[in-house]
Amino acid sequence: MFDNKIVLVTGGSRGIGKAVGLEFAKTNATVLINYTSSDDAANKAIEEMKKINPNGTFESFKFDVSNYQETENEIKHILDKYSKIDILVNNAGITRDSLFMRMKESQWDEVFEVNIKGIFNCTKSVVRSMVKNQYGKIISISSVVGEMGNPGQANYSSTKSAIYGFTKSLAKELGSKNINVNAISPGFIETDITDVLPDSIKTKYMEMIPLAKFGLPEDVAKSVLFLASDDSSYITGEVLKINGGLYT
Ligand SMILES: NC(=O)c1ccc[n+]([C@@H]2O[C@H](COP(=O)([O-])OP(=O)(O)OC[C@H]3O[C@@H](n4cnc5c(N)ncnc54)[C@H](OP(=O)(O)O)[C@@H]3O)[C@@H](O)[C@H]2O)c1
Repeated sequence: MFDNKIVLVTGGSRGIGKAVGLEFAKTNATVLINYTSSDDAANKAIEEMKKINPNGTFESFKFDVSNYQETENEIKHILDKYSKIDILVNNAGITRDSLFMRMKESQWDEVFEVNIKGIFNCTKSVVRSMVKNQYGKIISISSVVGEMGNPGQANYSSTKSAIYGFTKSLAKELGSKNINVNAISPGFIETDITDVLPDSIKTKYMEMIPLAKFGLPEDVAKSVLFLASDDSSYITGEVLKINGGLYT
């Protein structure tokens, strides 16, 4: 599976995005990861992929997904070099938590710029080539808080709800071009984003999770591969929830 497929994972240097890259490395896919700040983390992710598949092709690309021009230029560079992108995983995301009364305009804007505008920028830069090839899988990472809301995350949860509308609209536009557009909505997954939360919040979440454990990045990665594979070719406009039973 994934022979001759080219995958681009945004925010692929750490956390869920890195796990997605490592999972694809077990296949014959060419895995391209994007990141924006830590060269060390990106190099380490590439090294880990090479360990899994010494004959595989893996490369990292540093660009800020919230910057349209930078994203378009880098994706054009990728398309020139690899000729296509078959699978786009819109994973890069940030939090800037604050209770709404105290939330600064910059905290609102930054989260929208990366989490939503970033998805526009990447998808817009890739979609023409997918339409030309009459093949594509676009998978965006939403969040359980996009469904249930969360105090201190009015900005973040709004961006994650927006992914629902984006996914369902684009699925309707691109279905006839053989492009599947889906999203994944993870619950509480152990990564750097959740590591910084106070123990009291972690305990509160744990009490709400029927499976009584936090998810691992690999749990999300395996579902990304399912939605990227032709095993799910009749699924589009769907949001797959990976949350251990943490429903609203
Ligand atoms: N962890 C959870 O519980 C959870 C739950 C639901 C949804 N999610 C979503 O899953 C996705 C991944 O989360 P995570 O927990 O794995 O996060 P993470 O560990 O903080 O990793 C974030 C990744 O995104 C990259 N990134 C951040 N801003 C970027 C930008 N402007 N341009 C390009 N890359 C950028 C980071 O690269 P640098 O290090 O170079 O900045 C890093 O590779 C996010 O969309 C998040 O909202 C996470």
